[in-house]
Amino acid sequence: MKKVLILSVMVVFSLFAVSSAFAGKCPQPRKTKAAPGGISKKDKTAKADAANGKAIYLKKAKPMACKMCHGAKGDGAGKLGKALKPAPRDFTCAATMKKVSAGQMFHIIKNGSKGTGMVAHGKTLKDKEIWDVVKYIRSTFVK
Ligand code: HEC
Repeated sequence: MKKVLILSVMVVFSLFAVSSAFAGKCPQPRKTKAAPGGISKKDKTAKADAANGKAIYLKKAKPMACKMCHGAKGDGAGKLGKALKPAPRDFTCAATMKKVSAGQMFHIIKNGSKGTGMVAHGKTLKDKEIWDVVKYIRSTFVK
């Protein structure tokens, strides 16, 4: 009986070790595909409203706020995100984010990323609102 207890304690500890190792990984593995055509070169953040983007990111987005997965600090450590494979994008990881343009983000937020937990928001957010959230993320979390 004691052996079983010690074993299960060890299992729990190693699971913690594994999940924290994944959480802080940078460069972060990335499953999301590149947006087709010239979309990744599009950038309409100049006229976008970062304050409105913040409200969407932290609260308004449907079916759930972006922070639930990507974290309030943008580090990919949101409550739901922890259980996901692949893990949500860590916007604070510069080594990975340097490959992710504003247009790429727009495309994925609108259409989702197949094979990952990233759902399409094109039916619940207008294009303008998507640019707002792209601006918020890039100006707040991306270094
Ligand atoms: C259910 C969890 C979840 C929610 C909610 C969520 N995301 Fe994601 N997101 C993910 C996952 C998982 C990925 C894919 C990571 C990968 O490519 O390996 C992702 C990818 C992305 C990317 C792609 C970046 C790239 O690598 O090209 C962007 C941008 C993004 N999310 C923004 C958002 C925004 C903005 C919201 C809110 C409107 C949001 N996400 C809501 C889980 C989530």
